[in-house]
Amino acid sequence: MQAVQLSEKAYWVGVIDWNIRDFHGYSTKRGTTYNAYLILGEKPVLIDTVKKEFFGEMMERIKSVIDPQKIHTIISLHSEMDHSGALVQAVEAIQPEEVYVSLMGMKHITAQFHKDLKLKTVKTGDKISIDQDTLCFVEARMLHWPDSMLAYLEKEQLLFTNDVFGMHYATAQLFDDENDEHLWLREAEKYYANIVLPYSDIVTRFLGQIKQMGIQPRMIAPDHGFIWRKEPSRIIELYGRWATQKPTKKAVIVYDTMWGSTEKMATHIADAIREEGCEVKVLSMHACDRSEVATELLHAGALIVGAPVLNNQIFPSMADVLCYLKGLRRKNLIGAVFGSYGWNGAPIDGLNKQLEEMGVSVIAPALKTSFVPDEAAYQSCRDLGRLIGKTLTEKVQ
Ligand code: FEO
Repeated sequence: MQAVQLSEKAYWVGVIDWNIRDFHGYSTKRGTTYNAYLILGEKPVLIDTVKKEFFGEMMERIKSVIDPQKIHTIISLHSEMDHSGALVQAVEAIQPEEVYVSLMGMKHITAQFHKDLKLKTVKTGDKISIDQDTLCFVEARMLHWPDSMLAYLEKEQLLFTNDVFGMHYATAQLFDDENDEHLWLREAEKYYANIVLPYSDIVTRFLGQIKQMGIQPRMIAPDHGFIWRKEPSRIIELYGRWATQKPTKKAVIVYDTMWGSTEKMATHIADAIREEGCEVKVLSMHACDRSEVATELLHAGALIVGAPVLNNQIFPSMADVLCYLKGLRRKNLIGAVFGSYGWNGAPIDGLNKQLEEMGVSVIAPALKTSFVPDEAAYQSCRDLGRLIGKTLTEKVQ
C-alpha cells in the first residue's frame, strides 16, 4: 500500500472502497473513496482518517512515507463515521501531540466515542505552522454537518475540503485529469443532489466567503472521489451553478404501480409533456431508488408524482421517496399528482398537500382513476401532460 504524492509536502493516504453500494440509503453504484492526507514537515500532520474497517490500509500508506509515530498532529475536519470512524484507533496508535476539531466537532466526537481524546478546538482563521507554510482553518457549518470544516495550506495553495466538492466514485486514478468526465460529472451531480442540495444557500454564501478570504486553490483535495489538480475552478463553478436550483424544461415523473394502471397514466402524461417540447424522465420506484430520483430532479423544473392506494394509504414506496425528497428541499419546482385507486381516492388528493409542504407549486387538482383507466381517463392524462409542458415552457423562458 503506497501513498500518492500530491505536492512537495502533501500525500494521499486514503483508501478506495470499491464494493460499497449503499451509503446510508444513497446508492453508491460506483463505490467511493475515503481520502485522508498526510503533510510532511518537522511536525507532520494527518488530515482526517477513514472508515473504521480501513484503518490498517490507511496506516500502511502512511508507513510508505514516514513512521506513523512521527505524526505530531491529527485534524478531524468532520465527525461522520466515514472520516472519523478510525480516529480513536489512529489516536491510540500514533499518540499525536495535538488533535484538532471544530467546536461542534468536539461535541459530535465526544458523543460518538465517549473517550477523552484530548481534543482541541479551532475556528475560522486559526492557523498552524508547518515548516515554512501555514495551514489555515475555515469552518463550513452545515456543509453538510454543523461541525464541517476545511483547511487551506497557504503557500502550496492546497485546499482540503472534506465532504465539500467530493463525489462517491471509486477510482484508482486519483486526479481529475485522469478520469472520464462522462462518468464523474454524473457522480458529482448525484452527490450534490443527495447531500449538499438542502444547504444550497449556504453554498452560495460560502463560495463568496472563500473568495473574500483570498483562497484560490491550485489543488482541491476532498475526502471522496478524486483530487482536482488540473481544473479546481471547475467544481467551484459547478457548485455555484447547482446552488441556484434554476429550473429547466424537464419534468420528472416518479411513480409506483400495483396492477399497471398508475403506470399507464404515467406513460400518457409523459407523452403529452414530450409533445409540448419538454424533456421528461419517467422513474418507477420498482426500477430505481430514491437517490436516483433526487439526482434527476437536480436540473428539473417539475416533479410529477403517481401513486396507487393500498389499505387507504398511498403506496409505501411513494411515501418513502416523498419523505426523502422533502428533506432535500429542492426549490423552484412545479408539480402535479395522479394515481389509480379502488374505492378510496382520498390518499391521492392528499399527495397535493404533501407537495405543497415540500414547497412545490401545484398546478392542477389530483388526477384520479378508479381501478383501470378508460379512454376518457387517458385523455385527462394527456391534458395534464400538456398543462405541465405549457407551464414549464412559460416558467423557464
Ligand atoms: Fe459527511 Fe463523507 O461524510
